[in-house]
Amino acid sequence: MESDGGLSSTDQQLIRESWRKVSESPLEHGLVLFARLFDLDPDLLPLFQYNCKKFSTPQECLSSPEFLEHIRKVMLVIDAAVTHLENLHCLEEYLTNLGKKHQAVGVKVESFSTVGESVLYMLEKCHGPAFNLDVREAWTKLYSTVVKTMSSAWEVSKKVE
Ligand code: HEM
Repeated sequence: MESDGGLSSTDQQLIRESWRKVSESPLEHGLVLFARLFDLDPDLLPLFQYNCKKFSTPQECLSSPEFLEHIRKVMLVIDAAVTHLENLHCLEEYLTNLGKKHQAVGVKVESFSTVGESVLYMLEKCHGPAFNLDVREAWTKLYSTVVKTMSSAWEVSKKVE
């Protein structure tokens, strides 16, 4: 993992600035992110089960306290990445383990691209036209660095097959 994910200082500044507004109300923005995710890929819904209970609709999932905790966790991981933009390396072990946990609950590595699209969608909804191409590219770089590290679990199991 590159220590700064190849982010220029301008990229870092754009990410920090655009994250500020989101981090003021993480749950609200996380709900936009996950509502979009389930729109793009409803098959992700059954992966979220608490006490073996499956949700029958995205709305039911999006209003369950356990799922809202997952949203908070996701937003905290993004927040940690934004806080450590200059030294993403220090999150490497945590993100690798997080990837392993997601592989264990049945997440396919491809689904992280859909999560990435949903993150961009949420940022665009929050900032409107201010979320321009430069900001989008900066976030895309950051997100791919995070996902690359989380994906190492799937890479290892591919080699074993
Ligand atoms: C395809 C999208 C995703 C699915 C289906 C998914 C699913 C899950 C499930 C089923 C759990 C265990 C139950 C729970 O804690 O609620 C979990 C835990 C967690 N997820 Fe996700 N997740 C996804 C994306 C993400 C992303 C993008 C992040 C952060 C970048 C993330 C961060 C976490 C964290 C921090 C935990 C808690 C891990 C622990 O217990 O140590 N998830 N996820």
